[in-house]
Amino acid sequence: MGRVENKVAIITGAASGLGLATAKRLAEEGAKVIMADINAESGPAEAAKIEGAVFVKHDVTSEQAWEALVDNVVSDYGTLDILLNCAGIVQLASIEDTSEELWRKINAVGTDGTFFGCKHALRVMKQQASGSIINMCSTASIQGGPNIFAYAASKSAIRGMTKSIACLSTQQGYGVRCNSVHPGNMSTPMLDAMYNIVLEYDPETAAEMDKMWVGNPVDVANMVLFLASDESVSVNGAAMVVDNTATITEGAVPRHG
Ligand SMILES: NC(=O)c1ccc[n+]([C@@H]2O[C@H](COP(=O)([O-])OP(=O)(O)OC[C@H]3O[C@@H](n4cnc5c(N)ncnc54)[C@H](O)[C@@H]3O)[C@@H](O)[C@H]2O)c1
Repeated sequence: MGRVENKVAIITGAASGLGLATAKRLAEEGAKVIMADINAESGPAEAAKIEGAVFVKHDVTSEQAWEALVDNVVSDYGTLDILLNCAGIVQLASIEDTSEELWRKINAVGTDGTFFGCKHALRVMKQQASGSIINMCSTASIQGGPNIFAYAASKSAIRGMTKSIACLSTQQGYGVRCNSVHPGNMSTPMLDAMYNIVLEYDPETAAEMDKMWVGNPVDVANMVLFLASDESVSVNGAAMVVDNTATITEGAVPRHG
């Protein structure tokens, strides 16, 4: 019997990185996983490798798309037990260099996408009187950083909405839990792309990044698995950090820590 046996999970951003690692881990533990991602090129092939998973093309920035996705999943599977809001984009810029366009782009995927996902999952989960919503945040919402303005703001908004949903659910007796996960640097295509840009424009900072601890996506997937399972029944409104002390040591952790 798996740790999330027969639970039905939607994972956004599941075509790559942390979302993909979590799709694999939840499926290994018996969940039926709907891998929702805007990337319909690699997504279907990744889903085909995972027993118990299917790919659905989904743009998290559209509330209409969310309404349809959640309703289709409930109609096809009879339930929605787990939602992981993992889709996200990052672009390095300080407040001084952040245009309205960049601000809206990052917030459309992170903030709006998570808001719509939570809203529609809650709508069906409260009727079932059960469900676990997990929102992928970042240590950026704890530490900030000079050149990660819009991203840190978006992750902080997600952290706040997570706590609000958890409090509402407890107050109203909905039986739905909502928690956030805050990874430090994890080895994914997103981190690789960010590192390459830093290396090009700011080799000194890239050298600092070289010294930092970098985690494995499965470490985050295991945290999500715990929050998705009934093992975490008393964990609600929590911000779970997965960073091997990076936030409390300001990132100065040797790579081999
Ligand atoms: N990698 C890290 O070090 C790290 C650290 C902290 C937090 N995070 C967060 O974890 C999440 C996953 O990051 P990752 O490193 O796996 O990145 P990634 O780039 O490997 O994967 C992100 C996925 O999101 C999808 N996506 C982007 N826009 C979308 C949209 N509009 N609708 C649906 N899907 C969309 C992409 O297609 C991609 O598959 C993000 O929210 C990110 O901010 C990552």
